[in-house]
Amino acid sequence: MRSILTMALFTGMLALGGMPAGAQPAAGAGPAPAAQPAAFAGGGAETCLKCHSTDAKVTPILQTPHAVKGDAHTPFGQDGCESCHGPSAAHVSSRQNSPSVLFKGANKSPVAERNAQCLTCHENGLRMNWQGSQHATNDIACNDCHTIHKEKDPVLVKDTQPEKCFTCHAEQRADSFKFSHHPIREGKVVCSDCHNPHGSPGPKLLKEFTVNEVCYTCHMEKRGPLLFEHEPVRESCLNCHTPHGSSQARLLVERPPYLCQECHQESGHQITPFSGSTLPGQIAENVRMLGRGCVNCHSQIHGSNSPNGAWFNR
Ligand code: HEC
Ligand code: HEC
Ligand code: HEC
Ligand code: HEC
Ligand code: HEC
Ligand code: HEC
Ligand code: HEC
Ligand code: HEC
Ligand code: HEC
Ligand code: HEC
Repeated sequence: MRSILTMALFTGMLALGGMPAGAQPAAGAGPAPAAQPAAFAGGGAETCLKCHSTDAKVTPILQTPHAVKGDAHTPFGQDGCESCHGPSAAHVSSRQNSPSVLFKGANKSPVAERNAQCLTCHENGLRMNWQGSQHATNDIACNDCHTIHKEKDPVLVKDTQPEKCFTCHAEQRADSFKFSHHPIREGKVVCSDCHNPHGSPGPKLLKEFTVNEVCYTCHMEKRGPLLFEHEPVRESCLNCHTPHGSSQARLLVERPPYLCQECHQESGHQITPFSGSTLPGQIAENVRMLGRGCVNCHSQIHGSNSPNGAWFNR
């Protein structure tokens, strides 16, 4: 009897076009919900939609893969809203009680409880390495990145994904504004092209075991094998490049000749590019030694397939 009255009251409030701003209860603060084990309301999403069907914060979920009722793998094919929000009979009978799992707001459930709901269905696939990953161990929730009650989750859309990551990764945001950068801001490359934010067997949440394997997925021509390999290229692209952004051209960590001289100081003509070197010819005095100097001649810096390419000049 009481619950019918309550329901009518809530339905009335919804019909009037909104919910009272002051209606936020101290969910979970009262002793009642903790005392008895939570029970499912049952009846699937319909039970909840009786009151929430005009709630704009809720209804966009109906357009998502989660709401495919005919598919027994989806929440709507199982316990409906309670697949994620947990047993909520108490909430259905009185708004004073909250559903057992809240993902948002001041009274949101602990990260582990929220994630456990999602992981009941999503522990496999991309999330194989979630446990122990940098995000998991730093208490990041699935819904820090994912938005469930939106027709299209912004983190799954190229144009909007980086903004989501930037909210916590300010350094990468700054990098994206630098003179040379992967076209992330331009919407051509996304963070998840190189990273698996759910965990990785490799370093830095990279999608592959090594940095180079990640780079080769798009820069295939750099993979080799080549007749003449430049050792540091095979070792790691990051010997010379930085992945997110650089104030040097071509995402370089340093510009030639300084870049090259970090390793080649001891050898041949390049020791003193601005003074007295003799090899080959008079290149020391050559203006080409400035700026991009070294790669003007050593243009095949990633390695060469030419029989005469031992010095990467061709
Ligand atoms: C009798 C009407 C009614 C029913 C049935 C109902 N709700 Fe609610 N629910 C409300 C009202 C009213 C609010 C408060 C809305 C607000 O503050 O924005 C609310 C709030 C919520 C919230 C936010 C809670 C919070 O404290 O922030 C969640 C989550 C929720 N409902 C889920 C559900 C689920 C899941 C079901 C079905 C098991 C359900 N509701 C059924 C009326 C209802
Ligand atoms: C009852 C099982 C179940 C639960 C619980 C569940 N999901 Fe899903 N989820 C699915 C199924 C099934 C799909 C559709 C998969 C497909 O199409 O391959 C899906 C799809 C998704 C997608 C892809 C959506 C898209 O637009 O392609 C994301 C992201 C996602 N779920 C995240 C979550 C998060 C975060 C949670 C916890 C808040 C969660 N899921 C809880 C079953 C579940
Ligand atoms: C740091 C941000 C972040 C966190 C935290 C995160 N995700 Fe994701 N998730 C993404 C991104 C980005 C994609 C798109 C990945 C891609 O396209 O390769 C994605 C894709 C998905 C998908 C759809 C792709 C698929 O079929 O696997 C599901 C399902 C999903 N995530 C579930 C989860 C669950 C469950 C959790 C919590 C255990 C979680 N995510 C935590 C960012 C995140
Ligand atoms: C796949 C898991 C999942 C399902 C299924 C789901 N929700 Fe949610 N719900 C969430 C997450 C995560 C949030 C946090 C906001 C977001 O991601 O959109 C949320 C937020 C909410 C909120 C807003 C709380 C607030 O404080 O803003 C309400 C109300 C709500 N859900 C009700 C429902 C109702 C009603 C249903 C069924 C029609 C439902 N949810 C189904 C995961 C789910
Ligand atoms: C809610 C905050 C938050 C969001 C959103 C977030 N991250 Fe993170 N991320 C962290 C924290 C905290 C760490 C661990 C500490 C650190 O290394 O900065 C981390 C670590 C990482 C690392 C590993 C760093 C390392 O040193 O091993 C990568 C890569 C990463 N995040 C990428 C992403 C991507 C890509 C996204 C968006 C899809 C994203 N993050 C969204 C908080 C976040
Ligand atoms: C082109 C591939 C690529 C893209 C795109 C990319 N990253 Fe990275 N990211 C890397 C590589 C490679 C590393 C490892 C750097 C290292 O070991 O020094 C890395 C490292 C990181 C780290 C750890 C930082 C550190 O210095 O240890 C974070 C955090 C991160 N990336 C976040 C992001 C975010 C957020 C985005 C999207 C805005 C993004 N990445 C896009 C390749 C990429
Ligand atoms: C998802 C695809 C993708 C991956 C993976 C990728 N790149 Fe790129 N890279 C691009 C695109 C797209 C451009 C821009 C090409 C253009 O503008 O013509 C680019 C440009 C570059 C440039 C030239 C930048 C400039 O300012 O001209 C360098 C250097 C580079 N990438 C290095 C790397 C390295 C190192 C890795 C591995 C950490 C990597 N890329 C991984 C897609 C990728
Ligand atoms: C020894 C230093 C060095 C290493 C290591 C290196 N690069 Fe480069 N890379 C350069 C230099 C120097 C340029 C600029 C060439 C120019 O301006 O003509 C460049 C330019 C590029 C460009 C843009 C021009 C082009 O050739 O397409 C891409 C893409 C690139 N590198 C990818 C990679 C990848 C992928 C790796 C790892 C497999 C890698 N680089 C390793 C020095 C290096
Ligand atoms: C991280 C260290 C490193 C950087 C940076 C580097 N190299 Fe190298 N380079 C090497 C190593 C190691 C070899 C192989 C040396 C050997 O076999 O004696 C090599 C070989 C060469 C060779 C072939 C000649 C030979 O002795 O085999 C040339 C030419 C060369 N580098 C030019 C350059 C230029 C130009 C740059 C700058 C764009 C550059 N290198 C940057 C480490 C580096
Ligand atoms: C004007 C063209 C030119 C420029 C500019 C140039 N090189 Fe060379 N470099 C050559 C030629 C040609 C060879 C082959 C040397 C020989 O014939 O003995 C060579 C050989 C080398 C070698 C292998 C031989 C040795 O001495 O160990 C290295 C390493 C090298 N250059 C690095 C550099 C670096 C670093 C720079 C920039 C500071 C640079 N080069 C600028 C043309 C050039």
